[in-house]
Amino acid sequence: MTARPLALITGASSGIGETFARKLAAQGYDLIITARREERLKELAAELMDRHGIEVEVLPADLSRREGMEKVENRAASASGLEILVNNAGFGLRGTFAEIPVEKSQSMLDVHITATMRITRAALPGMIEHGKGVVINVSSVAGFMSYGGRTMYSATKAFLNAFSTNLANEMLGTGVKIQALCPGFTVTEFHDTEEIKGFSRSRYPSWSWQNVDYVVGTSLKALDRNKVIVVPGAFYQTAAYILRSPVGRIRALFTRRAKSMQEGK
Ligand SMILES: NC(=O)c1ccc[n+]([C@@H]2O[C@H](COP(=O)([O-])OP(=O)(O)OC[C@H]3O[C@@H](n4cnc5c(N)ncnc54)[C@H](OP(=O)(O)O)[C@@H]3O)[C@@H](O)[C@H]2O)c1
Repeated sequence: MTARPLALITGASSGIGETFARKLAAQGYDLIITARREERLKELAAELMDRHGIEVEVLPADLSRREGMEKVENRAASASGLEILVNNAGFGLRGTFAEIPVEKSQSMLDVHITATMRITRAALPGMIEHGKGVVINVSSVAGFMSYGGRTMYSATKAFLNAFSTNLANEMLGTGVKIQALCPGFTVTEFHDTEEIKGFSRSRYPSWSWQNVDYVVGTSLKALDRNKVIVVPGAFYQTAAYILRSPVGRIRALFTRRAKSMQEGK
């Protein structure tokens, strides 16, 4: 009997991570699922093992803490036959950089950047040795934006886009694929968390909200095409194209100038 392929997913207790777990389980992958909410992970594991006859390992960990990060990193390094790593755990913050307590910004750096970098580094040698593997870093269209309001969020996601693009080039010829998934607004628990309390989804048109199944399905389909930067949905693809083009840079410049004129500078 051939062993089932294995996937490790961070932030699997809800939203995009949970949906990756559901879709990969349905494709016959064994899973290692991690997040802080252990009960949620256990319920998901029981359901997926029962429904698909696969193995699911629950690995509770807080990626904003050194010991949590090391726990997942060590597991990624020791997981034999790890084929897919999804670095998905993340959260938003409300307010300007100067208002947000520095510990919150530090946690965002740790969860979005340091954990992704360390877990990826731990997983890659095994993947390279087997000549096969996939790393999906869940980024955001916010990674293409350069005007204030979400300073840390945009900057950490911009790192993920650059990290993924450069790493994909390094991995050419190894059999390892790298993807940065850049969703726009997606209906998950992201906008209900304590960190962005008070956010109102209805402030944005209903058509701007994407379904989580569609977002994850687009990511998995794009693996066949070896696409590195994956933006689900025509609207967000167009927005990302404009934001990444010289037009986007000129727009950002005008936004900055307009703001400084308002402030009388
Ligand atoms: N929803 C959107 O509109 C949207 C758009 C673009 C990109 N994204 C990105 O998509 C990813 C997933 O978010 P989502 O939309 O699915 O939101 P979500 O439903 O809130 O899920 C976030 C996941 O991250 C985990 N997480 C958060 N902080 C963590 C920590 N310190 N340690 C370990 N795990 C942690 C959460 O688990 P626990 O709370 O159990 O730890 C949860 O499983 C994030 O990286 C986000 O930036 C979301």
